Amino acid sequence: MSSAIGIETKAIPLTTMVSEDTQKVGEALSNVLADTFTLYLKTHNFHWNVVGPMFHTLHLMFEEQYNELWLAGDVIAERIRALGRTAPGSYGEFSRLTYLQEPKAVTSAIEMVAELLRDHEMCARTARWALSVARTAVDAPTEDLLTQRVMAHEKAAWMPRSMLEEERTLESSGA
Ligand SMILES: [Fe+2]
Repeated sequence: MSSAIGIETKAIPLTTMVSEDTQKVGEALSNVLADTFTLYLKTHNFHWNVVGPMFHTLHLMFEEQYNELWLAGDVIAERIRALGRTAPGSYGEFSRLTYLQEPKAVTSAIEMVAELLRDHEMCARTARWALSVARTAVDAPTEDLLTQRVMAHEKAAWMPRSMLEEERTLESSGA
């Protein structure tokens, strides 16, 4: 079919990737999405339930981080759709696909910080692995997206890591 500007629209494929590759990339992105949504929910939970002298600082830091994760989840899900796959969107699917652990109980402020550090490091690992899947499939747009996700998680991990580092320094100096 010719469009008004003479382009053969049916001759233009959505993507040059073969379906086996889009399936692998879609599945890898689904793991990244499940990690992202699980960490979004956990961070929002901590935003609500954190207590103690660090309340204000952590309440705001958690808010900044859960907002970033919420927006990222939408971008990841829509990339899965652009590849012609169905994006997971239920708690059951996310709990099956994520590499993160549910918190056993609402923890102390410093335990929340340590948990988010572990989780951002795990999210960065999942995104790096998915990036390698996208690179093998020659899927540059997904590589670009996942490079941004690795950077975001590594930056997000730096903040709680720095807070815990101060704690360790005080402990080791006997203060
Ligand atoms: Fe709030």
